[in-house]
Amino acid sequence: MRSAMAINKRSPNFVYLILLSLVAIASAEVFFEERFEDGWESRWVKSDWKKDENMAGEWNYTSGKWNGDPNDKGIQTSEDYRFYAISAEFPEVNNKGKTLVFQFSVKHEQKLDCGGGYMKLLSGDVDQKKFGGDTPYSIMFGPDICGYSTKKVHAILTYNGTNHLIKKEVTCETDQLTHVYTFILRPDATYIILIDNVEKQTGSLYSDWDLLPPKKIKDPEAKKPEDWDDKEYISDPEDKKPEGYDDIPKEITDPDAKKPEDWDDEEDGEWTAPTIPNPEYKGPWKQKKIKNPNYKGKWKAPMIDNPDFKDDPDLYVFPNLKYVGIELWQVKSGTMFDNILVADDVEYAKKLAEETWGKQKDAEKAAFEEAEKKKEDEESKDDPVDSDAEDEEDDVDDAEGHESDSDTKSDDEEAKEDAHDEL
Ligand SMILES: *[C@@H]1O[C@H](CO)[C@@H](O)[C@H](O)[C@H]1NC(C)=O
Ligand SMILES: *[C@@H]1O[C@H](CO)[C@@H](O)[C@H](O)[C@H]1NC(C)=O
Repeated sequence: MRSAMAINKRSPNFVYLILLSLVAIASAEVFFEERFEDGWESRWVKSDWKKDENMAGEWNYTSGKWNGDPNDKGIQTSEDYRFYAISAEFPEVNNKGKTLVFQFSVKHEQKLDCGGGYMKLLSGDVDQKKFGGDTPYSIMFGPDICGYSTKKVHAILTYNGTNHLIKKEVTCETDQLTHVYTFILRPDATYIILIDNVEKQTGSLYSDWDLLPPKKIKDPEAKKPEDWDDKEYISDPEDKKPEGYDDIPKEITDPDAKKPEDWDDEEDGEWTAPTIPNPEYKGPWKQKKIKNPNYKGKWKAPMIDNPDFKDDPDLYVFPNLKYVGIELWQVKSGTMFDNILVADDVEYAKKLAEETWGKQKDAEKAAFEEAEKKKEDEESKDDPVDSDAEDEEDDVDDAEGHESDSDTKSDDEEAKEDAHDEL
């Protein structure tokens, strides 16, 4: 009886839950999804940006050198020292009142030393043939690596015509395997950044970007009150100079000094003992320091409401999102993109990641390890048996394409800086 009652009691909830999830599925919307299957080229426009300078890189449609499924292809940068720009259009989206999910997978098959792996969402009308570093965008998201100092996930939001970088540090993956990057923006102006379906950062648009002027500011009119005592220590008024303190001489004649036996008063003048520092002398007298009983702490101006702050309830809204784009500078090519999603459904994004990256990641890792082993074997085969250790090291460096020419290196850095300036 009891258990039957319990089931009866639970059933309506259960039905309600099923209904609720059906509604959720029904209302889930995918704005754009690209798995790079046959026909992808009809959806994407390769930009002419940097073409006249011969600096526009070609994309390779491939599953990569190592993968978890040789039939699952993406697009990969295939030329070094090149700019890349490609974009796809989708029906205009306004995310007001909706969750916005922006997700893609990226793999750096080259050991990326300096270059981006991020994507952009663009709004309004974009001439896709001219899409490039200067084209305004709404959201830029994804990994960026340069040297040892830059290994971060960018999350740049454009608000009122200005690009704002996230103020929190989010570290990106730096290995040569596929990773899924997800940016979720919610109508309550909160966000989540995930890598491989694991949350890496979360917070509010209000606190983690400087989109709006601060809510509170220090009162510019406030002045420190005259009687505000901010001295932590004072001289002890009770401490009195001992009598005769000032009479103690700094130096005294050396009591141990003796007139040398061969001293000739007539020739050498009258002998005087040399002076030495007086051990009794303690320097000028100073009053002892004590804690100031009237100390009020450091004075701080009170915070007031910032007259320039005007809340924007639509802070998270991008009213006419219409394109996804990849715009990169790559010193060394080999970055591969796949499974791009723009949607309003977090669960759908999670499932997509699991069905693609999640299913393939172990096989991809195994394939990568095998490729590495093969490379090592070939390198040791190429090495003459009697070569000394130094030669061996040089060969490995050459095989990996390391730079040895310092001029080339500084050019890289300059070009990278240029590319960064264009952000
Ligand atoms: C494209 O990628 C495949 C797999 O890594 C590679 O074998 C091929 O040489 C690449 N093609 C170009 C044009 O880079
Ligand atoms: C938007 O930008 C303009 C021009 O830079 C500025 O005057 C205005 O205060 C900005 N508005 C907001 C809400 O930030």
